Amino acid sequence: MAPGPPSPDPVPPLRRLFPESDRLSVHDLLADLELESRAPVDRPYTLVNFVASADGHAAFRGRSRWLSDDADRDLFHGLREHVDAVMAGTGTLRAERYGRIVRDPERRRRRASSGLTPEPLAVIISRSGDVPSDIPLFSDPGSRVVVFTSAAFDTSNLAAEVNVVRLDRGELTLTTMMRRLRSDHDVRSLLCEGGPTLFGALLQENLVDELFLSLAPKLTGGGTAPAITAGPELAELRTMSLVWALELDGALYLRYALRT
Ligand SMILES: NC(=O)c1ccc[n+]([C@@H]2O[C@H](COP(=O)([O-])OP(=O)(O)OC[C@H]3O[C@@H](n4cnc5c(N)ncnc54)[C@H](OP(=O)(O)O)[C@@H]3O)[C@@H](O)[C@H]2O)c1
Repeated sequence: MAPGPPSPDPVPPLRRLFPESDRLSVHDLLADLELESRAPVDRPYTLVNFVASADGHAAFRGRSRWLSDDADRDLFHGLREHVDAVMAGTGTLRAERYGRIVRDPERRRRRASSGLTPEPLAVIISRSGDVPSDIPLFSDPGSRVVVFTSAAFDTSNLAAEVNVVRLDRGELTLTTMMRRLRSDHDVRSLLCEGGPTLFGALLQENLVDELFLSLAPKLTGGGTAPAITAGPELAELRTMSLVWALELDGALYLRYALRT
């Protein structure tokens, strides 16, 4: 979904439908994620977050923000609050004009008090090196960014703290990137915010642990926007277990664990 500012109005509690009936704020819902302790030794524990229309599209007029709502935005920012690093594909960075990952001082304070860095590491991977360096993420001195690429990427005019990891073309896989994030950058939990091409590629390399999916009660009516995955079909279907399901104003907020 779109990385817009947090909603000024508090989101009303969501109605939990599964596993048990309850009413919960997004803050309480995400309070006990404990992601770091789940990290495998060779990569971060990895969440993927998407919003989709009821007819299966991941964007409308080229953006996810039209599909989103206040609760989805609250979840989006809430998940950012709980991870060491946040990743998005170059297509998403460009379409959604990413800025600094956690701007809200209260969220930054809560991150610090739970032992995380106030600002998560922003993670980018690009084969072409065509990273949109004009987005606000790179002009904010508070941003921390790591770019994995096999091409040159000039950081000299960027205000953000940017670390470029150059890898040979054959070495530039998501699996290698994950290993390096864990070993060299101490990333134990990673949130991937899309887009569909990157999510499809993560599935191909079997690197996803959970999917947070907001299902908007909205129809795009067709068009060319992708589903939440793109790229080659998987060799085998992946199945998932439902961890929770919540509802507010007809939208569903689903959390799935990918089965191994
Ligand atoms: N509904 C939602 O929640 C949601 C979330 C995110 C995005 N979106 C929408 O999705 C659209 C953009 O998605 P997209 O699929 O076009 O782009 P994307 O997945 O954001 O980015 C694709 C790019 O990421 C890099 N990349 C992906 N996999 C890679 C790999 N295995 N190795 C190296 N680099 C890799 C490549 O960059 P290079 O070309 O630089 O090599 C690739 O072209 C936008 O319309 C956006 O609004 C929707």
